[in-house]
This record gives sequence, C-alpha cells and structure tokens, in this order.
Amino acid sequence: MTENKKILVAVAWPYANGDLHVGHLAGAYLPADIFARYHRLKGNDVLMVSGSDTHGTPVSLRADQEGVTYREIYERFHQRFLETQRDIGISYDLFTHTDTANHHRVSQDLFLALLEHGYLYTERQEQYYSETLGRFLPDRYVEGICPHCNYAEARGDQCDNCGKILDALELGNPRCKIDGSVPVVRETEHFFLDLPKLEPEVAVYLAEDKEDWRPSVLNFSRNYVQGGLRSRPITRDIDWGIPVPVVGYEQKRLYVWFEAVIGYLSASIEASALRGDPDMWKDWWYDPSAETYYFIGKDNIVFHTIMWPAELIGAERLYEEDETRHFNLPTDVPANEFMNLAGAQFSKSRGHMVTLPDLLSRYDSDAVRFYVTVVMPETSDSEFYWDDFVQRNNGELVGVWGNLANRVLSFTYRHFEQVPEPGEFNDVDTALMERIEDGFDTVGGLLAARRFRAALSEGLTLAREANRYLEVKSPWTQIKTDLGAAGTSLFVALQAINALKILLAPFLPFSAELLHRMLGFDRTLFGEQVIEEVAGEGAPHKVLRYSAAPASGQWAFEMLPAGQALQTPQPLFQKLDARVVEEELARLGE
Ligand code: MF3
Ligand code: ZN
Repeated sequence: MTENKKILVAVAWPYANGDLHVGHLAGAYLPADIFARYHRLKGNDVLMVSGSDTHGTPVSLRADQEGVTYREIYERFHQRFLETQRDIGISYDLFTHTDTANHHRVSQDLFLALLEHGYLYTERQEQYYSETLGRFLPDRYVEGICPHCNYAEARGDQCDNCGKILDALELGNPRCKIDGSVPVVRETEHFFLDLPKLEPEVAVYLAEDKEDWRPSVLNFSRNYVQGGLRSRPITRDIDWGIPVPVVGYEQKRLYVWFEAVIGYLSASIEASALRGDPDMWKDWWYDPSAETYYFIGKDNIVFHTIMWPAELIGAERLYEEDETRHFNLPTDVPANEFMNLAGAQFSKSRGHMVTLPDLLSRYDSDAVRFYVTVVMPETSDSEFYWDDFVQRNNGELVGVWGNLANRVLSFTYRHFEQVPEPGEFNDVDTALMERIEDGFDTVGGLLAARRFRAALSEGLTLAREANRYLEVKSPWTQIKTDLGAAGTSLFVALQAINALKILLAPFLPFSAELLHRMLGFDRTLFGEQVIEEVAGEGAPHKVLRYSAAPASGQWAFEMLPAGQALQTPQPLFQKLDARVVEEELARLGE
C-alpha cells in the first residue's frame, strides 16, 4: 500500500496588466493543470496555488499611462484572470493575488527572517532618477539602445529583441518612458540579498540528483551558480508595492520578484485558512516527503531555481516552532520554452497574440487545451499554427477520440440503452482490455514525469487501437446475426472509452465530465470551482477556488458494470470549418 503523496503545484503569477494569452497557457497554466488533475485522479493530495501579480512596473506603468490607479488596473485584470482560468479549467485550489493583507504579512515576515539570519545588508547604489517627475525610475520605465544588439527600444530590465537581461544604466541614449525626458543618475540605499553567502547551499541543492529535470533548466541553473552569484537589491524606490518592514525604510518597497515568489507560500497559507485548517499548508512546505513543482516559462527560471531556493534556505522556516524542520526546496521546475504564434513570438506589447478570452469566445476549452498540449513547448520553442489547430482538431480530437466515443455510445444506446451483458471474451477482446489497462501505467508514468505531449500521444494511440478493435469486431454487422456477440464487443468498447475518459481527463476535463455522465455516472470527476469574494485578514478580495479538495482517486482500470443505464449521447467535440484558418489569420492582420 502506498500512502497519498502531498503534491504542491505552484504556478507562475501573471502580471495583472493585460489579458492572458496562449503563450501563458502553453508555458505554465496548462501543464500545471494537467499535472494537478493527474495527481488528484491518482488519489494524491494536491495543493495548486497561484494568483495575480499586482505589483511591479508592468502594472504601475500601465496605470501611469492610462492615468488610473494601480488598484484599478490590477482589479480589472484579476477579475478577467479569474473568469478566463475558470472557463479553460485551470483547477487551482486557490488563485488569489499579491495585494492581500495575508501576502503582505508573509512577505514582510520572510524578509525579516532573512534579515535576522544575516542574509540581508544595505548598500548605496546608482539608479536613474527623473528630475521632471521627481522620482526614481524603475528599470522598466527607462528605454534606450540595447548594449548587446543595438535595438533602439530596449526596456531597461530586458531587451525585447535579443532577450538579454539588462541594467538600465547600461542603455545607450536613455529616455524616460513616461515623458520622454532624459533621466539622471542618483545614489540611493537598498537592501541586498547576500547571494554569495547563500551560494554554497544553493549549489548543494542544485548538485543533488536531478535526473528527471529538463536538461535545459538544470544546465542553465548549474551554470548560473558556477559563474558565481552576485548580491541583488531586493528593495526599490517606488510607491507601488509592499513596504519594507524596517524603521527608516518604510517609504521603500520590496522588489516585485522578491515578493511574488513568496506568493506560493502565502497562497498556500491563505488556502489553508479558507478551508478552516490553518496549519494544513505545513504538510506541503515542511514535510520532507512532500513534492513541490513549479510551473513557469523559461524566462523565469533563475527566479525559481536560484532566488526562491535562496530565500527559502535563508529564511529556514516561518510560523513553525520545530527547529528541525525547514522549508522544502523545489522538487522540480519544469519550465517550458516559448510558443510562437503563426511564425512570430507572442507579444503583449506589440499586439501579436491571441488572448484567451478571445479564443474562448470562439472555441471549446477542450479543443484549445488539446491543441496547446499537442504542440506544448516542452523541450524547444514551438509554433501555434491555425491550420494545424484545425487539422489536429478535426483529425485527432474529433476524428480519433470523439469519433470512438460517439460511435460506441450512440450505437449501444440505440440498441441496448445500457451497458450490455457480455458473453465470453476472445483473444481480441482481452488484448484490447489489457492494452488499455496498461495505459494507466504508461500514460501515468509520462504524466508523472512531466512529459505531457508524450502522455497525450500515448492516450491517442490507445484510442486508435480501440477504433481498430471496432473495425475488426464490427458490432454493426454482428448485430444483424448475433445480438450476444454484438453486446460483448460493445461491452469491451465501452470499457475502453470509460478508461480512456480517465486517461484523457487531465487534458480534456470538460468532455471527460460530459462523457462520465453519458456513461451513467452522476458524481462529477473533479468537483466544482467557484469565484468568490473572501474576507481574509484585510480587505475582501476575489479568488478562484475549490471550496473542498476535489479528491477523486480514479486512476485505475475499473469495470463499467453490465446493466448500468446510459444517458442520451451527444458529440464530445465539434469539427471546425477550414475557413477558420483564414478568418484567424485575418484577425492577426497577416
Ligand atoms: N509576474 C511574472 C510574469 O508575469 C511572473 C511571476 S512568477 C512568480 O512574468 F511567482 F515567481 F512571481
Ligand atoms: Zn538586445
């Protein structure tokens, strides 16, 4: 007997400054969701958390440009994130945001723990200052010429053209993004995270066995540490963010990356409070047998494999008396690469993207989830092509899996209305049953290993075999001469689709629920998520959550009993017209 495992599924926190797009979905949310659903079906205890990143210059810049408050911006997009993610089925136990009293407190406490343990120090530093605005300019507020590729509109924190991380002071011909004025350099004092001091322990962590990490993530992280870690300022001279909890420094704010990652912890704490079990989160954060997975895009790797482990190592523990316990470090950070759209990089700022609200207004969630999984950028950048979307939808989702379920259900329903009583099995029957039963190991093994494309492809292979079984047995011919034989074939085919329903449910949860009902079950597979306003410690805020853990534990081959009544069948998926391709390309302006 194996015990339930505790699995933390930590998902990147999107900046609340614009709609979610397909790149976000492919990079982090969908793989995280597939993984979480798999583990729930497996009977493990999943805690899946994230929220809107309400701080940082992406949010303040947009507010400044629109002339509205920071809060107005983040509330607008937070609300949209809640709806979009519910609609596409990202099954968070809690999706909250970083401007809650709970998150402020946990972030400040973690800062203080680092300070107390001697991992923070103050130092003077040069920074751009705008004399016209009378304030320091965060890196993102400054634009200029990239020192690496000469791109003229490089942002102060990162060049959009060559992707290199920059320091605004390195830009040629710097200009302020707000009013175009030329900034001056001024000295200011900040808290620094002493990464050289934490480096040995971070290096030990990264040197441990990481067999199942993606080689690109592991190599990048190990090389980064090998080059020697430099201290990083973790406070800023801005007015938007969490105040530094030290007398004399209250006007400064915590650097957004320092505190956003703390959201994984604070959201776990909030989720526990909302479930009425305030210490629940400790099972995921302190129990050494718990596994913790961080789903992010590749541009965030350093923050999750180095900065966050360093913060956790330095803080040691929070809200935990037992001194032998310390924070769990990430079990894996399965960062995805980028997904390009029709041949060019997604870009919020340049409008070359497909937002999820827009996509969901025209296509079913499972159709989108299917295609995005098929081309998920797991080991290299990948492409979202509209013609491929239509072809895969029609050829594989509808053509292979939808068709199989549909044919079996409609035919059985018409002739039996229930799961037929089987006769003796022959070799062909047993072969299919065994093959599908093995799927729980093969598909499950790939899912556990974060190999989502391969897992889906294995599931489809099994559906193809079930289709072949139907061709061989041909119940529509059998039924004319031998009702019993037809019943046996349909019984076996129904077992196959009942099992495939579970095997494919992590990818296709909506159609799995529908099929589940058509097969005569009345309980849901995953339970229901709700958008709710919750009170918390401070001001009420909205969250997306499961009010009860959506436990399920059905990852096993279970027989659908003969005699179970079926419901009126309806198609699981829609075929798409070829015209869709031109319409979508026209929308992109190509
Ligand atoms: N807000 C950041 C972004 O959109 C990601 C933050 S992930 C974090 O790129 F949780 F680590 F903060
Ligand atoms: Zn550049």
